[in-house]
Amino acid sequence: MKITSKELRQKWIQFYESKGHEDIGAVSLIGDGSTGVMFNVAGMQPLMPYLLGKPHPAGKRLCNVQGCMRTVDIDSVGDPSHFTFFEMMGNWSLGDYFKKEKTAWSFELLTKVLGLDQKKLCVTVFEGNSAAPRDDETAELLAGLGIARDHIFYLPKSDNWWELEGTTGTPCGPDNEWFYPLDEDKPNPVFPDDYVEIGNDVYMQYKKTETGYEPLAGKNVDTGFGFDRMLLFLNGLSDGYQTDLFLAAIEKLESLSGKQYAAGGEAQKAMRIIADHTRTTVMLIGDEQGILPSNTGAGYILRRLMRRAIRYCKSLGISSGAMCEVAKIFIETVYGEAFPLLLEKEDYILEEIAKEAERFETTLSQGMKEFEKCVSGLERKNAFMSQSNPAYVKETVIGGKQAFRLYDTYGFPLELTQELAAERGLSVDEAGFDAAFKEHQEKSRVLPGQFKGGLESHSDMAVKYHTATHLLNAALKSVLSPDVNQKGSNITDERMRFDFNFPRPMTEEEIKATEALVNAKIAEDLPVVYREMTIDEARAQNFVGVFDSKYGDVVKTYAIGEFSKEMCGGPHAERTGALGKFKIVKEQSSSAGVRRIKAILE
Ligand code: ALA
Repeated sequence: MKITSKELRQKWIQFYESKGHEDIGAVSLIGDGSTGVMFNVAGMQPLMPYLLGKPHPAGKRLCNVQGCMRTVDIDSVGDPSHFTFFEMMGNWSLGDYFKKEKTAWSFELLTKVLGLDQKKLCVTVFEGNSAAPRDDETAELLAGLGIARDHIFYLPKSDNWWELEGTTGTPCGPDNEWFYPLDEDKPNPVFPDDYVEIGNDVYMQYKKTETGYEPLAGKNVDTGFGFDRMLLFLNGLSDGYQTDLFLAAIEKLESLSGKQYAAGGEAQKAMRIIADHTRTTVMLIGDEQGILPSNTGAGYILRRLMRRAIRYCKSLGISSGAMCEVAKIFIETVYGEAFPLLLEKEDYILEEIAKEAERFETTLSQGMKEFEKCVSGLERKNAFMSQSNPAYVKETVIGGKQAFRLYDTYGFPLELTQELAAERGLSVDEAGFDAAFKEHQEKSRVLPGQFKGGLESHSDMAVKYHTATHLLNAALKSVLSPDVNQKGSNITDERMRFDFNFPRPMTEEEIKATEALVNAKIAEDLPVVYREMTIDEARAQNFVGVFDSKYGDVVKTYAIGEFSKEMCGGPHAERTGALGKFKIVKEQSSSAGVRRIKAILE
């Protein structure tokens, strides 16, 4: 290995520190919601307010190595160069230095620190359009540094302009992009075919508006170099799974499966998918704003990744427990130093992976059988029809209802069914799936009066308190720990009592945060959705409660958005808005390791 991941990290930070930058460290991988982008897709994303003019507490020159995630490429993972998680080495000028310093420093870093041959570098610059002029300034600066003029290319907005897709009010601008020949020894490489992009410097001096672009008061620089890609490239490799970020994980998968990565084929693809998806799983669960697999939003992306990895464990002939073993390697040997929180959360991460694996493994085999039935049904029909009619056009689409059944009963994300179908030359009726999904949702809405019997024996107030216990349970899990579980409750018309496992008294802040979260969910006026489902389905969909029913039993469930999902007999308020204001009046010990909250609805 010419350069290790640790060395590359250090070199990046040290170089920019030597140029007066402050290392601000990485922040959460999960978007803060301000741009509507679910995950950080670039190192600049958490810095948006500062690029728009707000003073940053660490000054005007910043650098870091930031975890990022891009979901567009999920289906391409399995080839040598696509990943869902990656890190971006970044540095920023917040209204401080501009093109002169930036071109010089990127050049110095690439040629002096990282040892690339300046004669081989190619750089592209913005050719200009009605929103911003042609970037001759950068081209001249690059030429002045010694880059041959025939290695500088002017390209249009589609290549040399950087902005966060699908957003407005965000900083953006023209950029220059650095390229290097993929094979350093190839004589007379041709741009762009023989080159690979290694990073870019964005001159963020505009703000994207509804109608176009307006100049920002301060001119910023936003630099991003892909850490994983640079590591690969500086080591003269062409397979991203051969860097020290992945080597140990791949070796583990080889020893567990008894198969050779280098042999290529399906086993190699499976190892890549398991390794990539497990790394991303570790990062998402172990994040400071960690998420868990679920059926909506970011949680659903995580579930897709996890279930895809579990399926590939199966195809590799190993149990899903392999995911935990690989996760351990990422946490302990690869990323623990750069992401210390992963070490702190290790047990939790491994437990959550094991739980999801268990949930999905119980239904995966049956679901696969069900899928095979769909395929053989199609095949039989096609064979029969072709026999009687040689001109018959074969059906190649799996029905939306069937795909929905695989989703609803066996926990197969639609994308998983689509991938399985594609492997057999088939597709899935996506619109039909959506329709089945909608129909199902409508059926599961609570109908007024559904709990007539229940409501007669429960006062209105008690019903509201009962719903409040669900919100409180979910809020405690979110504020304190996902390991918090309800140990008991007692409800009268005047108050509720709620017992839960937790080793110490809650702090004042935790009590306030819990109260605020419950009240926020009340303010959202969420519908409380009742559904009956099999216990396996409930488990697969992350409902909490006592799983003492037998396999195949039907249980009653109540979901309040994605926030609270409990198995429970009811009855409940129809919407959270009915609850009023939630207030914790006391938090005390109940017994060893169990706390008790007394709360009222005002
Ligand atoms: N924001 C730029 C990128 O993501 C640096 O490539």
